[in-house]
Amino acid sequence: MSVGAPEQHNPVPRHVAIIMDGNGRWAEQRHRPRLFGHKAGVDSVREIVETAREIGIEVLTLYAFSTENWGRPTFEVSGLMTLLKSYLQSELRTMVRNDVRLHCLGDQDRLPEDVRAVLRQVIAETSSCRGMTLNLALSYGGRCELVGAVRELARKCQQGLLDWNTLAEAEISGHLFTAGQPDPDLLIRTGGEHRLSNFLLWQASYAELYFTEIRWPDFRKQQFLDAIQTFLLRQRRFGQTGAQVTGE
Ligand code: FPP
Repeated sequence: MSVGAPEQHNPVPRHVAIIMDGNGRWAEQRHRPRLFGHKAGVDSVREIVETAREIGIEVLTLYAFSTENWGRPTFEVSGLMTLLKSYLQSELRTMVRNDVRLHCLGDQDRLPEDVRAVLRQVIAETSSCRGMTLNLALSYGGRCELVGAVRELARKCQQGLLDWNTLAEAEISGHLFTAGQPDPDLLIRTGGEHRLSNFLLWQASYAELYFTEIRWPDFRKQQFLDAIQTFLLRQRRFGQTGAQVTGE
């Protein structure tokens, strides 16, 4: 047994993905409508994006709206869309100043036209930013993403552009919304549930999972740094033995 400071195994994660859960319960606990929780959640989004940029994360992916979330009451869906639009409008200048590029994962065609228009504008105006990529998963589902990739690959095989005998993991990765990005090293879920909820099913194969009871509006800079600290101490083995990884 070793005594003293715990050993740091990893550098700061290149890619952190977050399932931002618990807004509704946070609001209900305060006897306020669910949208009050989502509004408070936007403040956490701002703080986490800023912190991720500060500590040198390359890619931050936030699960803002799933394909399944379309089934929520119309009032909540339209409230979330309004929040999203105003967040993008108010953050554009800050993103450019902080060199943050916006990228969208998901089926943008299902989003209301006014939200799509703002998304297009922010994506275009931040396209040359290189400090960090902020992926917003909007109308996103991991299975749907994989179906899209399989369809595209099948089409290319049929047209003779690809040979199905040589299809490998790289071709699948290259046809996902995250093409060209590193896979998430750390996946955080707030709000106390222990599941993936159709998030980054392919990409998260080797992500370290971090679950916390803290609800998203209470997940701020310090809670994020705690999650990063936990990650630094994890030993990632990628199927190898501990001895192989440490070389001892
Ligand atoms: C899950 O909490 C959260 C959502 C479905 C939406 C997340 C949205 C935000 C944080 C605000 C808008 C986002 C951006 C990027 C500006 P829940 O409603 O399922 O909470 P519950 O499990 O307590 O009901």
